[in-house]
Amino acid sequence: MSTAKLILDGQEYEMPVTVGSEGEVGIDIAKLRAHSRAITLDPGYGNTGSCESAITFIDGENGILRYRGYNIDELAEKASFVEVAYLMIYGELPTHAELDDFRHRLSQHTMLHEDMKKFYEGFPPSAHPMSVLSTMVASLSTYYPNSDDEEDIDLNIIRLLAKLKTIAAFSYKKSIGQPFVYPQNHLDFVADFLHMMFAVPTEPYELSETVHEALDMLLILHADHEQNCSTSTVRMVGSSGADLFSTISAGVSALSGPLHGGANMAVIRMLKGIRDDGGDYDKYIAKAKDKNDPFRLMGFGHRVYKNFDPRARLIKDAADRVLARLGHSDPLLDIAKHLERIALEDEYFVERKLYPNLDFYSGIVYRAMGLPTNMFTVLFAMGRLPGWIAQWKEMRDQKSRIHRPRQIYTGYTERSYVPLDER
Ligand code: CMC
Repeated sequence: MSTAKLILDGQEYEMPVTVGSEGEVGIDIAKLRAHSRAITLDPGYGNTGSCESAITFIDGENGILRYRGYNIDELAEKASFVEVAYLMIYGELPTHAELDDFRHRLSQHTMLHEDMKKFYEGFPPSAHPMSVLSTMVASLSTYYPNSDDEEDIDLNIIRLLAKLKTIAAFSYKKSIGQPFVYPQNHLDFVADFLHMMFAVPTEPYELSETVHEALDMLLILHADHEQNCSTSTVRMVGSSGADLFSTISAGVSALSGPLHGGANMAVIRMLKGIRDDGGDYDKYIAKAKDKNDPFRLMGFGHRVYKNFDPRARLIKDAADRVLARLGHSDPLLDIAKHLERIALEDEYFVERKLYPNLDFYSGIVYRAMGLPTNMFTVLFAMGRLPGWIAQWKEMRDQKSRIHRPRQIYTGYTERSYVPLDER
């Protein structure tokens, strides 16, 4: 085994080196503080591996993403989302019998407890669906208590996978003042969600194959992305022993921010802003480059991808395909493509290796499907759920220690209390 050496104040420390199955190298500093009293400092964790994981591999320099060894392009083309969810959580692609059983189990847990419907009455109509989602997911723990029994845990995983789409669709119906549409267990996972979203009691609902196919693929593309902000949150919260539902609810909250999953909504706002401003691209490119302006080109840049995001390419193709098949056009797609062309030739973006990420085009596809902007991040959460669950499960199986980073204290050294009338 190779080792790394650190020299600190003339003293040498030797640390083991861990190498992953794709040759990724990690210096194991687990004993560093105990031996040297020093810690590592890495704000934003850009160089810190928090765990070993066998779920997702990303090679950001070469634009590679694989789930359990399978390339994202191949899964997006050939697999269904439910198959990918099984792969993420149980580690292997399901056989026919396993997939049938998994589908059946998912279809048996789609309903919400009737009392949970009352929660929706308490939310204001303007409530953001992501806030509703994290609240409702956390509330599941009041109905399905924590257990250390493996069968109970698996049942809660199935419940969560099955109910999240019902929660999501109900929050949409609530926001537009339509009656809830109950799940239909004869429909497949994606069809059931679309039915709950768009069916109304007054007329039959016709499922669009184009929309069904596109949503299934989008969910696959979102299914996991190793130790990103929300997934690290899930591992962090889960490491305390908190139950599955509370843990995933924390992941939903982390995802909602505009630098993470919330970027898909922010992209649409940005594209509309450019349109309403008469298509002044140069102004927005200049704003994005100006360090005194908080504006960023939303949907651009990634902590890990420094070449291209393979998901973005697949989604861009899907945007063209879906719009063509549905016979729609969307001026925002033209604006997005134009903006991408300009940015990819601009020195600022080239130098920093800033490319479109999966959020840049996903909103265009969601819009074509008739989904409102404030539901976009909820769809990201639906897709990411199998990844969060798989990472939570893996963390438990690894008997991970509670996550508890250190800090370098920079505040006052000890001082005496000053009585109130002397301050
Ligand atoms: N527009 C303009 N400049 C940017 C952008 C952008 N979108 N992204 C990064 N930069 C600049 C940044 O200012 C910095 O410049 P300098 O070196 O001169 O200080 C440099 O590029 C490196 O950026 P960073 O902020 O250090 O990179 P990060 O790894 O900390 O942040 C990011 C990654 C995704 C948060 C960031 O690129 C960003 O804010 N992008 C826009 C929001 C977005 O699209 N988020 C979705 C991410 S993909 C989906 C997901 O996983 O959630």
